[in-house]
Amino acid sequence: MNSILKRARVKKMKTKLFDHLKSIKSRSPEDTFRIAEEFAANAAPGDIIALTGELGAGKTVFAQGFARGVGYEGRVTSPTFTLMNIYEGGRLTLYHFDLYRLTDGGEGLEGIGYEDFFYAGGVCLIEWAERAGELLPENAVEIRIERVDDARVISIK
Ligand SMILES: Nc1ncnc2c1ncn2[C@@H]1O[C@H](COP(=O)(O)OP(=O)(O)OP(=O)(O)O)[C@@H](O)[C@H]1O
Ligand SMILES: [Mg+2]
Repeated sequence: MNSILKRARVKKMKTKLFDHLKSIKSRSPEDTFRIAEEFAANAAPGDIIALTGELGAGKTVFAQGFARGVGYEGRVTSPTFTLMNIYEGGRLTLYHFDLYRLTDGGEGLEGIGYEDFFYAGGVCLIEWAERAGELLPENAVEIRIERVDDARVISIK
């Protein structure tokens, strides 16, 4: 897919769920799950979702909802030690990365052959995406989750 088409897709994903809002408030893990599930309904092959937010913000909860949204029924846990889990059987294959332990500027990602997954025709969802540094593709859609009091604010960039 060329970059103009990619940009058009990103725009479509943004407008469909977030409409003209820049952010959505989540008051519970169930809210975050549902927001992610709905967001995933618009996911298409090749999409890369960069999840950012501090420890315990709700990135994995978002990943769980997202996985359900692409039709995966199994268990979703953080792939902290393995860097990535693959969930197959849904509408799209989901590659769930967690780069928390990546402190070497991306070498570990190269070690698992990340490009094969970024461009495999599935969807990638990356927790701690900022740790991928320059390896993060330009067309990635950033979803940021921030704690605000007891709630979370989920925004898209
Ligand atoms: N609105 C909310 N959305 C998501 N999680 C929430 C919310 N309110 C409370 N929580 C709680 O916050 C925690 C979020 O944990 P989660 O593992 O998803 O965070 P994370 O961002 O993946 O953390 P890590 O950086 O350690 O991977 C859970 O215990 C969840 O129950
Ligand atoms: Mg997590």
